[in-house]
Amino acid sequence: MDFTIDHIYAKSKDDKEILKDFSLHILPGEIHVIMGPNGTGKSTLSKVIMGSKDYVVTKGDMFIDHESILSLNTTERSRKKIFLAMQSPISIEGVTNSEFLRTALSSQLEKNVGIYEFMKEMEKSMNDLNMNSNMMHRSINQGFSGGERKKNEILQMKILKPKFLILDELDSGLDVDSLKIVCDNINQYISENPDTSILIITHYTRILDYIKPKYVHIMIDGKIMKTGAFSLAKEIEEKGFSCVNEVSEASTHE
Ligand SMILES: Nc1ncnc2c1ncn2[C@@H]1O[C@H](COP(=O)(O)OP(=O)(O)O)[C@@H](O)[C@H]1O
Ligand SMILES: [Mg+2]
Repeated sequence: MDFTIDHIYAKSKDDKEILKDFSLHILPGEIHVIMGPNGTGKSTLSKVIMGSKDYVVTKGDMFIDHESILSLNTTERSRKKIFLAMQSPISIEGVTNSEFLRTALSSQLEKNVGIYEFMKEMEKSMNDLNMNSNMMHRSINQGFSGGERKKNEILQMKILKPKFLILDELDSGLDVDSLKIVCDNINQYISENPDTSILIITHYTRILDYIKPKYVHIMIDGKIMKTGAFSLAKEIEEKGFSCVNEVSEASTHE
């Protein structure tokens, strides 16, 4: 999927401007990474892309395959096959994982998904992720560990089959073995669906040992300050984000 963000400004409901002139273009099948310090607006970006009501877009536009999605709500955007694996997945009491996912899938496909076929696919997907099958019948994320919640997000990805996948701090909460399993599943998905566009938001480069990006963007104070290849991620890991600040300040004084 072709995804474009064109000079977006977004603020929270209490009027704090968080995204400031943010632009990004991802071609079908490309993997992009956004790195940036805490509080720079990365999670806000992911939620604005999903159409969260917590934020207001004041300027700019956003396109899927050259069609604006700004006026669409979150359900309509997920029907367009955008999927966000959240940094901190919430738990919901009283709705089981399987009920939730079957409803989400039925809503996305706009038809009732048969329970037998669905359960078969769910079991297989949970097995791929090395998840305990009793999690299917438990309330969404209730009593799940941080790592189990993250696996649950990728379970949703496997069932909902997005064309644009956003991974917000996927590695937080995952131990080394679980991170490998989750990344193997994502890589498998990419190989089966090579047109999937991916946006990885991360602090650490360890996820990039498994999933190789084409571009790395450094986001500071609500916008992209620098773009480079994979080597830029390694440079940031060694030197920190301050070197980007220095470069961009130097270039604005020229
Ligand atoms: N709904 C909100 N209301 C008010 N402030 C918010 C809201 N969401 C995020 N912020 C603030 O915006 C800044 C960026 O947050 P966030 O997008 O979570 O950053 P990051 O993911 O890069 O660490 C932070 O200072 C945060 O407190
Ligand atoms: Mg965040």
